[in-house]
Amino acid sequence: MLRLIRRVADRLALTPATFHWVRKLPEGNYQATKPRVAAVRDSMGDPRVLDLGCGTAEYAELFDPARYLGVDIHPGYVRFAQRRLPRHRFLVADVCQWKPDEEPFDLVLVHGVLHHLDDARAQAFLHTARSLVRPGGKLLVIEDVRLAGAPLVTRIVHRLDYGDHIRDVPAWQALVSGVLPIARSETYSSGVCPYHLMLCSKPAA
Ligand SMILES: C[S@@+](CC[C@H](N)C(=O)[O-])C[C@H]1O[C@@H](n2cnc3c(N)ncnc32)[C@H](O)[C@@H]1O
Repeated sequence: MLRLIRRVADRLALTPATFHWVRKLPEGNYQATKPRVAAVRDSMGDPRVLDLGCGTAEYAELFDPARYLGVDIHPGYVRFAQRRLPRHRFLVADVCQWKPDEEPFDLVLVHGVLHHLDDARAQAFLHTARSLVRPGGKLLVIEDVRLAGAPLVTRIVHRLDYGDHIRDVPAWQALVSGVLPIARSETYSSGVCPYHLMLCSKPAA
């Protein structure tokens, strides 16, 4: 049964529009996450933002289009995002291998990406992320987290999500603090999905 549901989910994920709209259901329309991202934005004024693994760019609208860049490996997601948000800037790239020609950003956002990557690729991804945070800037990582005793519905959503690398809190903290010190962290629920948020500050030069 789970295999059948997963096949349906795979097909939905192939279509950026269905991925974009269907994902809002388990995520409770991001009502728990967007205010958290907006609070970081507000604490920084009007930051230049890099959204790594932006997907269909659910978070782009929280930011000034002229000061936003979204990057994703999936050309279909990027096309969809660019059509939906023509004033924002997007690029297709594999962040693990990307050699960017960009000025460092005030804020780099990584939401729901690293749980798709094994440790080696997640570290490569985070090293690129760190290199693109300006001194004194911030890296905000929010990832699906494995919690003991999670309800069945959460475990099903995690299985359907290709989240082959959903880590527990200590593993997330070890991975992220390997690139930048974590200034603040929090575990919370967005719809039926538990998340771990880590806000890192890059020391000023
Ligand atoms: C679950 S989606 C999250 C999208 C978006 N951050 C959000 O929260 O709505 C994960 C995204 O990471 C992207 N991704 C995975 N590995 C990547 C890589 N190496 N470089 C760039 N994007 C990647 C996928 O294409 C996908 O769009």
